[in-house]
Amino acid sequence: MKIGIIGAGSMGSGLGKFWAQKGHQLMFSYSRDATKLQKVAEAIGSNATIGTPTEAVQFADVVLLSVPYGVIQDALQAAGSLDGKILFSCVNALLPDMSGMAAGTTTSAAEEIAKLAPGARVVEALPLFAEVLNSPSQRFGDQIAVVF
Ligand SMILES: NC(=O)c1ccc[n+]([C@@H]2O[C@H](COP(=O)([O-])OP(=O)(O)OC[C@H]3O[C@@H](n4cnc5c(N)ncnc54)[C@H](OP(=O)(O)O)[C@@H]3O)[C@@H](O)[C@H]2O)c1
Repeated sequence: MKIGIIGAGSMGSGLGKFWAQKGHQLMFSYSRDATKLQKVAEAIGSNATIGTPTEAVQFADVVLLSVPYGVIQDALQAAGSLDGKILFSCVNALLPDMSGMAAGTTTSAAEEIAKLAPGARVVEALPLFAEVLNSPSQRFGDQIAVVF
């Protein structure tokens, strides 16, 4: 599968690493410093390239949105049309210092993202800490961490 990744931080690069190991092709995008994207793609290897958010969407069968809640509007504007695309979001609607919810308690990150990308099929998942995702084994003792 071709997966376009918008936001190549802890979550985007961590998930990308697993998907590349399973043979999926990746395009990383959306950074304030393109050299960071290049380093992430190089660390993953030949299954990974970089591009703009628009290029990542056009490339992708599935798009991962993995950016802080505060920049979802900017990231989705940069992505262009997501009509008909599966938009897989791991965005939490948290304040930057994680002291509370950035969107109140009557909506959710997924609902706000769906409003910003009305043609996309939005799926919100992955309540998993990046520390676990990026740990050597993803194990707690002899148990493997489960990701829904
Ligand atoms: N970390 C976790 O354990 C975890 C778990 C579940 C869900 N989540 C959610 O997943 C999403 C991503 O989290 P993360 O931990 O991967 O974050 P992160 O490491 O900070 O990555 C965010 C990415 O967004 C990019 N970005 C581009 N423009 C930005 C801007 N103006 N401001 C901030 N970042 C910008 C950053 O690129 P540059 O820095 O290169 O510009 C970076 O690659 C968040 O919504 C978070 O709540 C995180």
